[in-house]
Parts: sequence; structure tokens; C-alpha cells
Amino acid sequence: MSVFCIAEGILPLMVFILIQNGNAEECTKDVYNRYYSCEGRNLTYIPTSIPSSVEKLDFSFNWLPSLQKHLFPPLYDLQVLDLTRCQIQFIADDAFHNVKNVTTLILTGNPISYTSPDGLNSLHKLKRLVLADTGLLSLSVQLNNLTKLQELNVGTNMIQTIALPRFMINFKDFCVLDLHANKISSLKVDHTAVLREMKGNITLKLSSNPILHIEPGAFKDIYLKELNIQSTFVSFDAMRDGLKGLGGLHVGKLLIGLYVVDRSKVIYDANYLDGLCLINFREIYFLQKDFSDSEINVLQCMVNATKIILKRATIGSMHVSFHQLKELYIYRSRMPIVLDLSHLHTLEKLVLNDSKPVYLHGMNDMPKLQHVDLSGNQFNLVDCCSRFFTGMPNIHTLNLSFNSIIYLSNNPFAGLDSIEILDIHLTTLRSLNAQFKFFKSLKRLRYLDISHTDSTFLRTMAFRYLISLKVLKMAGNRFQGDALSYIFKNVTSLERLYLSNCGIQNIDRRAFESLSNLRHLFLSQNKLTVLDFATQSYLKSLTLLDVGMNSIFSIPLHTLKNLPTNLSNLDLSFNPIECSCSQIDFIKWLVNHQQLLRQSANISCKILSQDLNLRVIDFDIEGCVHMRRLTIALCVFAVTFLVFVSLLIYKFQFYLRYGYILLRGYRASRQQEWSYDAFVIYSSKDEAWVMDELVENLENGNPPIHLCLHVRDFEAGKAITSNIIDEGIMGSRKVIVVVSKHFIESSWCRFEFEVAQSWQVMERNANIIIIILEEVEEEKSKKVFGLHKHLKNNTYLKWSGNPINNMTFWIRLRKAVITGN
Ligand SMILES: *[C@@H]1O[C@H](CO)[C@@H](O)[C@H](O)[C@H]1NC(C)=O
Ligand SMILES: *[C@@H]1O[C@H](CO)[C@@H](O)[C@H](O)[C@H]1NC(C)=O
Ligand SMILES: *[C@@H]1O[C@H](CO)[C@@H](O)[C@H](O)[C@H]1NC(C)=O
Ligand SMILES: *[C@@H]1O[C@H](CO)[C@@H](O)[C@H](O)[C@H]1NC(C)=O
Ligand SMILES: *[C@@H]1O[C@H](CO)[C@@H](O)[C@H](O)[C@H]1NC(C)=O
Ligand SMILES: *[C@@H]1O[C@H](CO)[C@@H](O)[C@H](O)[C@H]1NC(C)=O
Ligand SMILES: *[C@@H]1O[C@H](CO)[C@@H](O)[C@H](O)[C@H]1NC(C)=O
Repeated sequence: MSVFCIAEGILPLMVFILIQNGNAEECTKDVYNRYYSCEGRNLTYIPTSIPSSVEKLDFSFNWLPSLQKHLFPPLYDLQVLDLTRCQIQFIADDAFHNVKNVTTLILTGNPISYTSPDGLNSLHKLKRLVLADTGLLSLSVQLNNLTKLQELNVGTNMIQTIALPRFMINFKDFCVLDLHANKISSLKVDHTAVLREMKGNITLKLSSNPILHIEPGAFKDIYLKELNIQSTFVSFDAMRDGLKGLGGLHVGKLLIGLYVVDRSKVIYDANYLDGLCLINFREIYFLQKDFSDSEINVLQCMVNATKIILKRATIGSMHVSFHQLKELYIYRSRMPIVLDLSHLHTLEKLVLNDSKPVYLHGMNDMPKLQHVDLSGNQFNLVDCCSRFFTGMPNIHTLNLSFNSIIYLSNNPFAGLDSIEILDIHLTTLRSLNAQFKFFKSLKRLRYLDISHTDSTFLRTMAFRYLISLKVLKMAGNRFQGDALSYIFKNVTSLERLYLSNCGIQNIDRRAFESLSNLRHLFLSQNKLTVLDFATQSYLKSLTLLDVGMNSIFSIPLHTLKNLPTNLSNLDLSFNPIECSCSQIDFIKWLVNHQQLLRQSANISCKILSQDLNLRVIDFDIEGCVHMRRLTIALCVFAVTFLVFVSLLIYKFQFYLRYGYILLRGYRASRQQEWSYDAFVIYSSKDEAWVMDELVENLENGNPPIHLCLHVRDFEAGKAITSNIIDEGIMGSRKVIVVVSKHFIESSWCRFEFEVAQSWQVMERNANIIIIILEEVEEEKSKKVFGLHKHLKNNTYLKWSGNPINNMTFWIRLRKAVITGN
């Protein structure tokens, strides 16, 4: 087994960002520029981009066959240098001159064939040196100046003896010698001379060596902190004898057994562990992967231990009287165990996990026992629990989880009132007292896990006596009817509540009324659709709310605004969020509160099709804004258009009417009766002339000509345009136009004239008679459409003050009105 040790705890870890410096020099670094990793880039030099402030450099898996003086730039802050598998063959005297302050040097997996005497010796501050898998043949490496050295790892080499060089006696802080997987086959008295002189707290790892023989006395009176001899002996005979050879050793923790199952090593001697009785150890870790048909005396030499850890052991029963055992761990026992652990007055912690059927035959009278973990044993406990734990008033942790079924007695925890942590999860719980009031005696209980116990809670205040309860886990159970509204009453200390997967559809607003100290509430995998309950003021301490995997498709803004102020983690992942423009406020809230939503990437829109998985935070809000703007713009446009059209209609109502009437008149043929002979268009400022002259001469002449004058003949109350057209133009055979300066200035006159002209065009009659009352300038006459044409063609009558001329004028006018020209 090769070792890729990275010094731990030197730097806090670490977010990497990629730096690039041309070529192949791609190293990652942490944000503080203290840790660089150039691992596996096949570099042949140290990149210049590495700053002198670097403290840890991982340069493993590169190409540095020869370490020479100028290889490293000055990196005087460097503490940890990892040169694992860099094909290093040669180390020059001053190779590490520029990195002389390193405390950890890792040279694992380099085929080092030559090291100059001062190559490593210049690293005066070195504490940890890893030379694993470097082809070392012995421990005679030039390290004599490394007096600060604490750990030397020379595992996976070809070293044949544990004899240490004499200079190591001066290594006052030396504490770890790792010699695993070497070629050590025998340990003799003179091999351990230096080790014996070093005294101190050394951890010696000899695992996976092919040891055949240990000379008795080789370890006599040697003090070790830890000795690992797992998978160290070539055979069981060697192990049996070897353990005896270790007699007289004093060791804090002894690790024995096999790493891997070896079916060839079948145990035939039930007492093969007897040698352990000669070793003074406090803790023993026994990993037993060997095979035996019979019961082995595993425990008999462990009676003086304070801590025993047995993994995969083939112990049958525990009829041994331990003198000072404080902790006992049994994991994955391969034989059914008959547990009789009574009267262990020193035992404080008992862990029995994942073992083949265990027969609990009394465990009593263990006054110091505090921690009991019996999880994962397929236990089938009837009439639990006081009966099984009598005389153990100090138990504060009881773990019965992952068992088969537990039938609780009527007062199951009587006499166990010190329990603070009780874990029964994933074990079917059956109780005579379906009300769960039996927790009554557990006044000190802080932590209760009854998740997935196949329990159904009724409408009772089941936990009201648990005045110290801070954590309650009850996921995967059921509540009958509205039991949820009652069950948490008076559980005032509760800080964390787990209610996942309980089939909860709604939560009464008062259900959590007593939980004013609640900080974490887990409600995932239920069927909730609303979050109203979370806005209640008594949940003021809530900082975490997990409602993932429910049926929430939207949350109203007022609910979101009223969530507890200290809420800093809201989990809404895997809800069928409705992503539509109508939810835009909710979606915007989600997008703007991603810090609050720790799992925001998992909040996706309700799946529309199988392969479409749209994250809510990617929803196109802009699209909705555009839609909204477009709608508003269209409305505004429509209103403006209507107003504009109305204005136009209002403004041009004459023309419209006029057009309409033209059309109407055109249809109404020509045989209509005329009410007047002529309609007079004139400016009201010329009214004197019209009345005194025109009316006088035409209406009173012979035959009388019936004129239509707007002052006189227009129907009152009728729109003026209608009058002009109906009465004037259409009701008269001819139109007389009185042209003067006033006429030209009057828009009404111009309008009437234009109407008359259009009428004339349609009727194809020359029915317009122009009277020039006074001379108008040509420029001005052009302003009136059509007038200029009449003037140019001399088709007009001209008025002059001269009486003789007037005679002619009247005769011609009369003729024009009556006949046509
Ligand atoms: C690494 O570099 C060495 C020397 O430059 C070269 O011989 C070797 O092929 C390279 N290996 C890879 C995997 O690029
Ligand atoms: C190692 O220590 C010896 C004796 O103290 C000294 O002479 C020698 O220079 C040291 N070597 C290095 C590389 O520091
Ligand atoms: C061994 O280490 C322990 C603590 O780790 C310390 O209390 C004890 O004094 C050490 N013994 C020697 C001999 O250094
Ligand atoms: C346990 O300790 C006692 C007293 O220190 C000693 O007599 C006995 O031999 C020890 N037993 C074993 C198995 O180490
Ligand atoms: C109880 O044991 C189970 C299984 O070993 C473990 O997962 C759980 O964390 C333990 N409970 C407590 C409260 O330590
Ligand atoms: C619950 O607490 C209230 C107030 O602290 C108390 O009046 C009431 O008696 C308690 N109810 C129960 C059943 O303990
Ligand atoms: C909210 O958090 C602040 C700061 O952590 C704390 O002082 C305050 O008491 C908390 N409020 C509630 C209601 O728990």
C-alpha cells in the first residue's frame, strides 16, 4: 500500500481557482495564494508563477529526475512540499536550499538511487518525512541533522530490520515510525536497542510485514504509544509465538488481526491469543478476519484493558470479568452472541452494532454505564425497556435504532430517567399505550428519534412532559385526523423538528403555537400546497424551513413577506412551481432571494414534458415584462386611436355629413321639387347689399324669383351644414355667389361655395352664378377653390354703382337665374 500523505490541518481548505501562465503551466491555487497544486502536469521545472508566499505546494506526478540546487526558486514560506511520483532519482547536496523551511516533505514513489549526504540534512525544520515506496533497503538514510523530526514514514520499501540509526536517540520529538509493508521477518533484542533508549510516546506501525519470529525479550520494558501488528505474521504459529515474543511490552493501544480474509489461515488453536496476556496494553483493536470452527478465547487476555474494539470477531459469549473496562465496541460479530454483561461496574460505553443475532440475557448492575448503542442487531425486544437496563441509572444515550421490532411495556422508561438521547428510528415500535404518554418520565430527554417507526399519532399532547426536548425526529410516521394540531402543545423547548414524509396535507395555523424556540423545521416529502403556517408570529426563531418535494406551485407575496425575519434557509426544491407570467411576482422573489434558497438550482418549473427541466431561476422574466409592456402599449394605442378618430370625426363632421349628403342627393335623382329658385352664398358683412339690392330686385321683380337666404330661410335648430345642403344647395335650382373681399375671408362662404361646386360637378349643370360685388385681387381669389376659373373665363356678372349698368346687370342676372345662362 503506498501512501499519499498530505499534511492535514496546516491550511484551512480551500476554494481553488485556476491560474494560467502560458505553456503547460496550469496550477490551481486557493484564494489566499497559499496553496498551489500542480499535480499531474508532467512539468520539468517549478513554474515561475508560484509566488514566494506559498505555504503548501503539491507538485506530485511531474517529471523531476534530478533535484539540483536551482530547481526551486526561493520559497522560504513553504511548509509542505509534496513530490510524490516525480521520477526523482538523484538528490543533490543543496537541492532543498531554497525551500529550507519545509516541515513536511513527501517523496513517495520516487525511485531514489542516490541522495547526497547533505541532501535531506539541510532541512533542519523538517518534522515529517515520507519516503514510502522509494526502494529503500535500510534505515541508514542521512538524516542525522533532522533533530526536529517527529514522523518518519518508510512504508512499502525493502527494509529488513527495525534497527534504528543511533543518532535518532537525539530526536526528542520523534513519535511515529511507519514501517508497514517492508521485508522485516525477524525482530531481535539488539534491533530494538535504540527504540528502547528513545523511550517516549512512539507509534510503531509494523503491519503487513512477513514476520516469522520475535525474539523473546525484544520488547521487554519498551513503552510505545501504539503498536500496529495487523497482518504482520506469516502464519498462525508465527502469530501465536510472536505475541509471546512481545511479552513485557507496555503499549497504549494495540492493533492486531488481519486486514483481509485469508481462508488458508484457519485457526486450530483456541488459545492462539494467549501471548496477549504478556503484553501490557490499555486499548486493543482486534480485526478478526480469520476463520475458526470453534469458539476462540478472544477476551481472556483482555481483562485488564480499558477499551476493547472487536470487529468481525467470533466471540460467543462474554463470561469474562473485566477489571477496568470502560468502553466495549463489538462490530459485525460473526457468531450469535449471548450477552451477559452484568456487574461491569466500570463500563461507561457499550456499542454493539450490526451483529448476528444477539441474545440479551440481562444487562444489569452497571452503574457507570452512560452510552448504550445496540443499533442494527435485528433485535426483537418484548416488554422493553426498563427490564433490559436495570441498575443503570446513568444511561444518558440509548440507541436502539435499526432493529426489528420493539414492544414497549406500560411504563417503558421507568428508572431510566437520565436518558437525554433516545434513538429508536427504523425500528417498528409497538406500544400498549397508543397515546405515547409513556415518555412522561423522560424529563431530561433532549433528543428523540422515532422516525420511521410505523407509528400513528392520535389527538393527544404526547410530548408535553418532555420539558427539555430540543430535537424531535418523527419523519415517516402518520397522524390520525387533526392530531398534528395537538401533538406539539407545550413542547416549548423544541428547536428542531423533523416531519418529513408524514403525508401532511395542511397544517393548522395553531399547530406550532408552543414552538417559539423552533429554529429548524423539516417538512419535505409531504403534500403541502401552502406556507401560511410559517407566517405565524410564534415561529419567530425559525431560521431553516425545508418544504422540498411538496405540492407547492405558488406562494402569495404577502406570505413571503411575512416569513420569519431570521429565516436564512428556505428549501423549496422539487415542488411543482408554476412558471407563467401570472406568477411573475413569485418568480421574481425566488430569483432575488437565492441566498435564502440554498437549493435554488433544484427549484424547477412544473414539468411540461419529460425532457424539459427548466430551473425557475432561469425563467424568462424579461419575456413577461415585454408581454406586459406590449399589452399596455396596445391598450394605450387603441385608446389614443379612438380618441383621435373621434376628434377627427368631430372636427370634420361637416365634410362627413357633406359627403354623406352628396351621396344621398346623388341617389335621390333629379326630379325633385325645388323650394327656391336660387340659393345665395354671401358674407354676412355684405348683407346690406343683398337685402337692399338683390332681394329687392329679384324677389319683387316680374316674375318674382324666390331666393334662399341663410338669415331668413334656414330652419332653426337644424345643423348649419344640413341647412346649407338640404335647404340651400339641394333645395334651390341655382346658386348665386356674391364675391367680395368679405366673401373671400369667410370660411363659411368658401365652404358653401365648394359644396355648391361639387354639387354642380355631379349634376353636370352650370348652375352657379357668380356676382362680383367688388374687385378682389387675383392672389386672393386663388385661395377660394374654383373661383379663379370662373373669373378667368369671364363667366360672372359684375356689379357697379352705375345705375345704367345696373339695369343690364339685373336683366342678365334674372335671365341667368330663370333660364340657365
Ligand atoms: C512527460 O515528460 C517526459 C519528459 O519531458 C516525457 O518523456 C514523457 O513522455 C511525458 N509524459 C507524458 C504522459 O506526457
Ligand atoms: C549537520 O550537522 C553537522 C554537525 O552538527 C554539521 O557539521 C553539518 O554542517 C550539518 N550539515 C548540514 C547540511 O546542516
Ligand atoms: C506521552 O504522551 C502523553 C500525551 O500524549 C503525555 O501525557 C505523556 O507524558 C507522554 N509520555 C512521554 C514519556 O513522553
Ligand atoms: C491483569 O492485571 C493484574 C494486576 O495488575 C495482573 O495480575 C494480571 O496478570 C493481569 N492479567 C492480564 C491478562 O494481563
Ligand atoms: C444510532 O445508531 C445509528 C446506527 O448505528 C446511527 O446512525 C445513529 O446516528 C445513532 N444515533 C445517535 C443519536 O447517535
Ligand atoms: C401547557 O402549558 C400551559 C402554559 O404553560 C399550562 O397552563 C398547561 O397546564 C400545560 N398543559 C399541560 C397539559 O401540561
Ligand atoms: C434574529 O437574529 C439576531 C441575530 O442573530 C438575534 O439577535 C435575534 O434575537 C434573532 N431574532 C429572533 C426572533 O430569534
